[in-house]
Amino acid sequence: MAGRLQSKVAFVTGAGRGMGRSHAVRLAREGADVIALDVAGELPGIAYDQPTPEDLDETVRLVEAQDRRIVPVRADVRDLDGMRAAVDAAVSELGRLDVVVANAGICTPSAWDKVTPQQFQDTLDINVTGVWNTVMVGAPHLVTAGGGSIILISSAAGLKVQPFMVHYTTSKFAVRGMAKAFATELARHSIRVNSVHPTGVATPMGTGDMQAALGAAMADDQRLGVMFMNMLPVETTQPEDVSDLVAFLASEESKFITAHELAPDAGVTEM
Ligand SMILES: NC(=O)c1ccc[n+]([C@@H]2O[C@H](COP(=O)([O-])OP(=O)(O)OC[C@H]3O[C@@H](n4cnc5c(N)ncnc54)[C@H](O)[C@@H]3O)[C@@H](O)[C@H]2O)c1
Repeated sequence: MAGRLQSKVAFVTGAGRGMGRSHAVRLAREGADVIALDVAGELPGIAYDQPTPEDLDETVRLVEAQDRRIVPVRADVRDLDGMRAAVDAAVSELGRLDVVVANAGICTPSAWDKVTPQQFQDTLDINVTGVWNTVMVGAPHLVTAGGGSIILISSAAGLKVQPFMVHYTTSKFAVRGMAKAFATELARHSIRVNSVHPTGVATPMGTGDMQAALGAAMADDQRLGVMFMNMLPVETTQPEDVSDLVAFLASEESKFITAHELAPDAGVTEM
């Protein structure tokens, strides 16, 4: 049976590991060829394990195992010109572009008065400007293709306030607004733009000293810890749970869904 994305091409950022890798593999399983972009190297100020070039190699292996083509790109989403050159070349090679998934992001939890100016700047540069850059290099190719789907990965922290991450929450609310703004102007090209708001997901973002960093921030006000509790009886979700939604948004099944927030959040944003 043909997949839902047969003959399509998808561009995924942060595709080296975690949810981005899962989205790349899932879209390939649905029939899409993939442009997989990742910095695959050191990220600023993070407490969790640093991404590596081998992570991106593994994504390549997994997509090829689906019998799909993949063009890996080592680039930083903060570098608009570098990203545009690489994506333009990859689209020439693969022939078209139909789906954009702006997923790359960082998270550096801290109590409000311990967030440094550098952390605030890095978070906005990667999580907001990086997403804008991604749409700016991808959307013109969707216009050429006559339509498509742009999926911006926000967070539960882009729908409801979460404590100990003023800078991250700021960035994820911005992404939600950006999706609506792009959706409005790209609609005439039959391009849909939606934001996705996961609850906690088991990815490398939770490794290394991340739990200690969260614990240290939470020591400031333990009561706020309940704001992370899911309504459904699950501690955490899996990358594939979010990829299910990404695949739906990439497909024709969601053809009349645009300018919306969709939340695989286990109900956390209503708690
Ligand atoms: N893990 C969670 O609990 C969770 C929950 C909600 C939303 N999110 C969001 O989901 C997205 C993916 O997170 P994840 O958990 O898979 O994290 P992750 O750290 O496992 O993966 C993120 C990937 O993005 C890449 N990346 C980061 N900054 C980049 C940059 N400047 N340029 C290019 N690539 C860059 C990293 O190298 C990494 O491969 C992020 O936007 C994150 O904020 C995560």
